[in-house]
Amino acid sequence: MPESPFDEDSTAEEVTADIDLSGKLAVITGCTSGIGFETMRVLAARGAYVVGTSRSLERAESACHKVRGLCTPIALELADPESVVQCAEHVRSLKTPIDILVCNAGVRGGGNQPVLVNGIERHFAVNHLGHFLLVNRLLERLYLAWQGRIVVVASRTAYRDAPDNGIDFDRLDGSGRYRDREAYGQSKLANVLFAYELGKRLRGTRITANALHPGVIDTDIDRNLNPALRFGFRILASVSGKTVEQGAATSCFVATHPSLGATSGKYFEDCNAVRIADNPHMQNDALAERLWDVSAETMASHMVELRRPDWSEFENGLRRPGENREPIDSEQAGNE
Ligand SMILES: NC(=O)c1ccc[n+]([C@@H]2O[C@H](COP(=O)([O-])OP(=O)(O)OC[C@H]3O[C@@H](n4cnc5c(N)ncnc54)[C@H](OP(=O)(O)O)[C@@H]3O)[C@@H](O)[C@H]2O)c1
Repeated sequence: MPESPFDEDSTAEEVTADIDLSGKLAVITGCTSGIGFETMRVLAARGAYVVGTSRSLERAESACHKVRGLCTPIALELADPESVVQCAEHVRSLKTPIDILVCNAGVRGGGNQPVLVNGIERHFAVNHLGHFLLVNRLLERLYLAWQGRIVVVASRTAYRDAPDNGIDFDRLDGSGRYRDREAYGQSKLANVLFAYELGKRLRGTRITANALHPGVIDTDIDRNLNPALRFGFRILASVSGKTVEQGAATSCFVATHPSLGATSGKYFEDCNAVRIADNPHMQNDALAERLWDVSAETMASHMVELRRPDWSEFENGLRRPGENREPIDSEQAGNE
């Protein structure tokens, strides 16, 4: 694919200049700080109606208040499947197609003793499984958009720090030798493989799914690192890192740029799709399929069965007039 006109210095405002998002709905997880807040701010400034999530409704409200534009705060704890379901139901109650879903929220660090969430290691549970379930519960609304985009904020730690075998399915409970750096890398590889597999499963639809590395940015993501690592991360971010405005650029570019309407299953860095040729896992079909199956099995009791809309009912994105068909579900009747 052609090189984009943007690079590591581009900001979220620059990559969205001239893009009008009026009438579009964007959902962003983890809107209260860092990259998620800047992504929400810029998408709202371009006219999108934004739903921003946080574990704390108060924090989400406060973040939304700081943004010029239309924002709705919703509570979401990605570690809790019930919270994910409730968040998705809240979004669905807006009765609006979803144009952009940015899976941005994330957790990193915590020490070399695993923290378990429902028996699953926390990085994997929050960064991957929570978003896996959220996408499942919201996908139907992305189908209804003119061109839905799923953007998964991963990290280059996916190919730098993940275990040698990519995803260590036998140790998702954190058993055996545990290092939080490796666990974070594994969860970010899961982010990349999820977008890759989604890209394949959504072929033939108008929904795209892509993953990205935002850059190294001094945000609250280091809050769980030990003081030495925190210091090191801050030095690295100040020497070779990006500002938050630059850090949100790749998310905003992948979420909105007209040149990417048919680009799916890719991994981006610095506003360009890149292929990490010397890594065996980043585009590994068997690993991505297995990750999908294991994730679906783990979240089975909270997932919904997905049906593709019958496009023969639509003409230019609108249901054909005068045809007496049942809506896809009762709630969607309000969208017609
Ligand atoms: N900063 C970097 O250098 C860097 C590099 C590569 C990738 N990334 C990725 O970029 C994304 C954004 O990170 P950031 O740097 O902007 O970090 P951040 O400032 O710490 O923001 C993380 C966001 O995630 C939310 N969050 C944390 N735990 C959550 C949970 N259990 N359930 C739901 N929401 C949760 C937080 O909201 P509340 O605390 O209000 O709930 C916060 O809004 C992450 O996925 C991260 O892995 C960052």
